[in-house]
Amino acid sequence: MKKTIMIVDDEKHIRDTLGGVLSDEGYRVVAVRDGKEALERFSDGGAELVLLDIWLPGMDGIEVLKEFKRRYPAVPVIMISGHGNVETAVKATKLGAYDFLEKPLSLEKVLLTVEHALEQKRLAEENREFLERARREYAIIGNSPVMRRLKEDIKRVATTDSWVLITGENGTGKELVARNIHLYSKRSGKPFVAVNCAAIPDELIESELFGYERGAFTGAVGSKKGKFDMAEGGTIFLDEIGDMSLKTQAKILRILQERSFERVGGTKTITVDVRVIAATNKNLKEEIQNGNFREDLYYRLNVIPFHVPPLRERREDIPLFVEHYIKEFSLATAREDIPHLTEGAMNALIHYHWPGNVRELKNLMERLVIMVRSNTITLEDIPQYIREHLPDSRMEETNPFRSETLREARKHFEREFIKRKLREYNWNISKTADAIGIERSHLYRKIKSYNIEVDK
Ligand SMILES: Nc1ncnc2c1ncn2[C@@H]1O[C@H](COP(=O)(O)OP(=O)(O)OP(=O)(O)O)[C@@H](O)[C@H]1O
Ligand SMILES: [Mg+2]
Repeated sequence: MKKTIMIVDDEKHIRDTLGGVLSDEGYRVVAVRDGKEALERFSDGGAELVLLDIWLPGMDGIEVLKEFKRRYPAVPVIMISGHGNVETAVKATKLGAYDFLEKPLSLEKVLLTVEHALEQKRLAEENREFLERARREYAIIGNSPVMRRLKEDIKRVATTDSWVLITGENGTGKELVARNIHLYSKRSGKPFVAVNCAAIPDELIESELFGYERGAFTGAVGSKKGKFDMAEGGTIFLDEIGDMSLKTQAKILRILQERSFERVGGTKTITVDVRVIAATNKNLKEEIQNGNFREDLYYRLNVIPFHVPPLRERREDIPLFVEHYIKEFSLATAREDIPHLTEGAMNALIHYHWPGNVRELKNLMERLVIMVRSNTITLEDIPQYIREHLPDSRMEETNPFRSETLREARKHFEREFIKRKLREYNWNISKTADAIGIERSHLYRKIKSYNIEVDK
């Protein structure tokens, strides 16, 4: 598609020659005489770039530039001026002009500058889209007060370069929090490199983290970058730091203190600019007491502590997760519908204690979306080990043997019996009534009076 360029110049021959050259190069050109007309005719998306004369009748070029930058900050503006006026050039650049071209114009230079400006704009757009996509992909779900606080804290910490230590049980979202801190920081355009510290054997830790030079050891045929190099300018995420051996801890401490390292087999000292975010599911204070974790390393890492609470401490978020993952997995699998949970099923999920936290819930939702054919996921579809956690009152409700009087027992039995039969006949009231030998209207009244939740 042709790109549109707006030329703002009061001299007709400039408009004509510039316009001619740009059209020959395949651009669409809109040429206007002054700032007022330029602003009137320019609408968002109307042109990709503006060539703007500094000396204009009426509103001068600098004023027009200001207004353009205010209204359309992403549109590059290239200034054109008479004789070299450095002061104005500096002023224009400060106000956000992309570049400055002097009259008499070198058409070659004009084209080159235009191309560069458009290329830079394209890259900026690409980066912005990439960042937006990443932020969406890693968006943190949760509306509970603790999660809202956490999200606010993430944004606040992201503006700094401070080191962060994230604690929380398995599957609570520690890595997600680390990624969010990165994505909202000024490092977001640079890499986020995650290192599972527990998974690297002691003898490999240095070459993994710092890389090696060719010939450093048998088999090192080339040189290899380490994780710290890869994260240059960005964030390194040291995961599972509570599971590192004491030997590895000593090595990590040294590099964190010096912020520089030497590659294995190398002689050069490499300095890196990385932000460190560490995470663990261990209680490090306890680990220190037991002699498993270095206290000095703990204080080095723990500049800003972040705690991600277990899911059972933010139960009101459970329905949000359920809805999100059911939708996500339904779209990802070949399902044509998005099933929904009955109140009973949701209730069981809300009461469960989720030792594996969000990861456990996510996995269960995937399984339900794949295994449950019906459009409705009922309590029966929820695994027994989760249902067990429904509060006792709900169990008692269905247990006639716990009743005091015959009347109560009968009531409870009848309620449970009707429920089971209804379930058996797929909640079809007429069929169930037929099967248990009563009138449809009679059954209907009983459902009402027993307050049976029709699981449909
Ligand atoms: N608040 C949340 N919003 C959206 N997704 C979440 C949230 N919390 C966790 N998840 C998802 O749950 C899964 C586990 O999260 P993550 O890997 O960040 O947990 P973790 O605390 O690092 O777990 P582990 O200790 O097991 O390494 C991921 O798929 C993650 O995207
Ligand atoms: Mg993790």
